[in-house]
Amino acid sequence: MDYTVMLPAAGSGRRMGAGENKLFLPLAGKPILVRTLSVFQNDPDCAGIILAVRPDERERIREMLAAHGITKVTAMPAGGGERQDSVRACVRAFMEAGGKDDSVIMVHDAARPFLSRRVIRELAETVREHGAAIAAVPSKDTVKQVADGIVESTPDRSTVWLVQTPQAFRAGLLAEAEEKALEEGFIGTDESMLVERLGHPVRVVGSTYDNLKMTTKVDLAIGEALLKRQEEME
Ligand code: CTP
Ligand code: MG
Repeated sequence: MDYTVMLPAAGSGRRMGAGENKLFLPLAGKPILVRTLSVFQNDPDCAGIILAVRPDERERIREMLAAHGITKVTAMPAGGGERQDSVRACVRAFMEAGGKDDSVIMVHDAARPFLSRRVIRELAETVREHGAAIAAVPSKDTVKQVADGIVESTPDRSTVWLVQTPQAFRAGLLAEAEEKALEEGFIGTDESMLVERLGHPVRVVGSTYDNLKMTTKVDLAIGEALLKRQEEME
């Protein structure tokens, strides 16, 4: 099931505190960005990668792609101030290059190198039929809504899911949701929120707990441990 992936990589990695874009940091010897790109490079169903970058990092990234044999990047639009702006730049580039409304596109954080091929496949299949699907895992912890340090309510844990990327959509649906959000000045924390605002149902696909986003130093330590375990199992 063919899809194209939109990969926002234009952040600054403030919470990682590395003094540069965290995606350049090595994870067991290879940059995080290269590890994430390799998953899609090696997936025969992935038809292309659109990578949003900071203009001042474009050359460095171009060299990195060449050095690691990443050949599927078809466009590198400039990212924006918010993640949502970077994703929209990718989707616009996809449409301008002749993308069809009913093509399957996935949005995936460049900072999540551990996604599984099984989840990608299930997302693509679900989107074909239903238009929108996101990767998520059931919450292992109880979640509370808190205001001013006081618990307000406790949602039934069996209804609480922690959402990740990839998030997959029919291209026309996501493009419409993004342009509406832009017009209305709405900023969401994921693409699903923008599509939910259109009233379109979003399906949930069960993902894996190790599909972590490399956000702080702790995540790097866990990431290294996950890679070590993978190598031992191979
Ligand atoms: N991203 C982006 N454009 C932005 C902000 C984020 O393309 N304006 C990308 C990041 O590069 C990352 C993904 O979106 O691959 C998820 O964002 P996050 O983990 O928050 O990364 P950063 O924004 O770089 O980190 P921080 O929030 O700690 O500064
Ligand atoms: Mg951020």
